[in-house]
Amino acid sequence: MDMETVKNTAISSLHKAGNLLCPLYEAGVAIEKKGAVDLVTEADKAAEAAVIETISRVFPHHGILAEESGAHSENAPFRWVIDPLDGTTNFAHGLPLFCTSIAFQAHGETLLGAVLNPITRELFLAEKGKGATRNGKAIGVSQTADLEESLLVTGFPYNRREVLDELMAKVKRCLGKAQGLRRLGSAALDLCYLASGRFDGFWEQNLKSWDTAAGVLIAREAGGTITDFQGGPYTPGDPTMLATNGPIHKEMMHLLATAHAE
Ligand code: IPD
Ligand code: CA
Ligand code: CA
Repeated sequence: MDMETVKNTAISSLHKAGNLLCPLYEAGVAIEKKGAVDLVTEADKAAEAAVIETISRVFPHHGILAEESGAHSENAPFRWVIDPLDGTTNFAHGLPLFCTSIAFQAHGETLLGAVLNPITRELFLAEKGKGATRNGKAIGVSQTADLEESLLVTGFPYNRREVLDELMAKVKRCLGKAQGLRRLGSAALDLCYLASGRFDGFWEQNLKSWDTAAGVLIAREAGGTITDFQGGPYTPGDPTMLATNGPIHKEMMHLLATAHAE
């Protein structure tokens, strides 16, 4: 596989999506509901169509898994996993915290991850075995070993109303220990910010593979540790994910495991 062409295709797809998203963000878009708290806008759909068209023109036989239109050529050995707009709720409320996330996989293994926030113009990129970058400069996770000095981030899944007590128990446990806790609303950016050393730890449950496929490679290539809540291997799409800088991983695992709904 010509990884240079894969990389350039991912980057040009991200810019096409960004060029569509920015004016729609400024103008405001109509919102539809996919579920009680799960939104979709014309921006999600337009950005996804632009990304798929760009990739398919270069790689017509590759598989695609995209949030809004699902799977195409599912059994193809090479596959692109696309979240056209991660942070739709932020986008819909005029909060400039959203991105497009694209991962390229060969036989299920992610070889390239690329994420662009078109508002801040930060482009995060990682190629398997080659480290991670932000706008071309190498990035790495933080060295913080003390949870009391750690800035954590989490997210709340779309089924949050059914698991509210369980979610809040984890928030309570971690908030009681850490220096701070944020909820930004874009899992892909959460992982890229962990990769940049801005956050020291991130946990969330029920994320989909398009939310994390690119960000997980970026965070791992930046030196991050990513497992499920129990410390087992994490593959995008698994039900729980704990991503940290490494030194605080065990303690966070313990906090999450001992958080019980009251
Ligand atoms: C959502 C965001 C959010 C996370 C949700 C995701 P979307 O993706 O990543 O941070 O908490 O679980 O579904 O719907 O904005 O693409
Ligand atoms: Ca998403
Ligand atoms: Ca999305």
